[in-house]
Amino acid sequence: MTVKVGVIGTGMIGLDHIRRLTEVLAGARVVAVSDINPERVAAVVERIPGARAYPTGEALIDAADVDAILIASWGPTHEAYLLHAIKAGKPVFCEKPLATTQEACLRVIDAEVAHGKRLVQVGFMRRFDHAYRVLKDTVTSGAIGAPLLYHAAHRNPSVPDTYTSDMAIIDTLVHDIDVARWLFDEEVTGIAIRAPRANSKGGILRDPIFALMDMAGGALVTVEVSVNIDYAYDIRGEMSGESGTVELAESNAVVVKSKGVAAGRVPADWRERFITAYDEEFRAWLAAAAQGTATGPSAWDGYAAQAVCDAGVRAAASGEIEPVRLRERPGLYQ
Ligand SMILES: NC(=O)c1ccc[n+]([C@@H]2O[C@H](COP(=O)([O-])OP(=O)(O)OC[C@H]3O[C@@H](n4cnc5c(N)ncnc54)[C@H](O)[C@@H]3O)[C@@H](O)[C@H]2O)c1
Repeated sequence: MTVKVGVIGTGMIGLDHIRRLTEVLAGARVVAVSDINPERVAAVVERIPGARAYPTGEALIDAADVDAILIASWGPTHEAYLLHAIKAGKPVFCEKPLATTQEACLRVIDAEVAHGKRLVQVGFMRRFDHAYRVLKDTVTSGAIGAPLLYHAAHRNPSVPDTYTSDMAIIDTLVHDIDVARWLFDEEVTGIAIRAPRANSKGGILRDPIFALMDMAGGALVTVEVSVNIDYAYDIRGEMSGESGTVELAESNAVVVKSKGVAAGRVPADWRERFITAYDEEFRAWLAAAAQGTATGPSAWDGYAAQAVCDAGVRAAASGEIEPVRLRERPGLYQ
């Protein structure tokens, strides 16, 4: 079956996902496009045979020939589009965040639970990355014994001037929050944020930061977030267990040896590092959408990640370990 997709939001990642759906993956057709910027929409529909422009996201969701929705607009707009898509009973892929407040996330959860089956997949693409999957499989195989500590690092060469200190938690750390919940299959119960002497290249930014998270089963997670480290986009993760460790390998395909030095490439940016993970997350989404449902990271995962981010922002201000309190998990997400 070909899933007829309507895309809301044609910015940086929206355009990349449209490329993915139209040029990379089988089983999808982009038939509808909407954005508050009509010029962007016009430029997109001109390139895609059969795609139509819609004046609002709601009109796009309601269109009879749209089977499934991709939301890639700004975070604060996600809740309204999600609620509309759930009301229409259409599967929806929502880029992270699910919504920008816990209350909004819970409204999405309530709507999906009332609908009675999953419709929402959230864009935590690391769960579809081959290296992360092998890491998780290794942990669950028991090869390193019971997992005790997970150490991660998220390093960006630089960030735009619009990037704020809280975005290091809400936009960047959020991916490792989701990875930690997924690797341990447990919730985060508390988070502390510490910052060393600041990187002088970061201006007034609190950068780098160091996050320490408590997992429900007693394991600990540490994450370095450095967003002005000026060498490459470097994503690291290592699980330490009772009898061994497993870590993400360097992602370069070859090692160059020359003049007494062995060197490998480090990805330039998130697109290079995770390009195949995005492809895989959309393969999974399309397969589930063709069945009228959703798979992978759920609305619950979006809510739980948001709750940890909120606690992280509080922790950065208080200097204390801030607790994470979640509502009881509905059966739909067990
Ligand atoms: N999973 C990831 O790794 C990842 C990476 C990048 C971005 N994102 C997420 O994707 C979303 C978009 O990010 P981006 O970098 O593409 O941003 P962007 O600013 O490049 O694009 C956002 C687009 O949304 C449009 N828009 C804004 N309000 C709208 C509305 N009410 N209705 C329809 N369109 C509207 C804007 O005009 C713009 O074209 C964000 O939520 C971001 O967090 C996720």
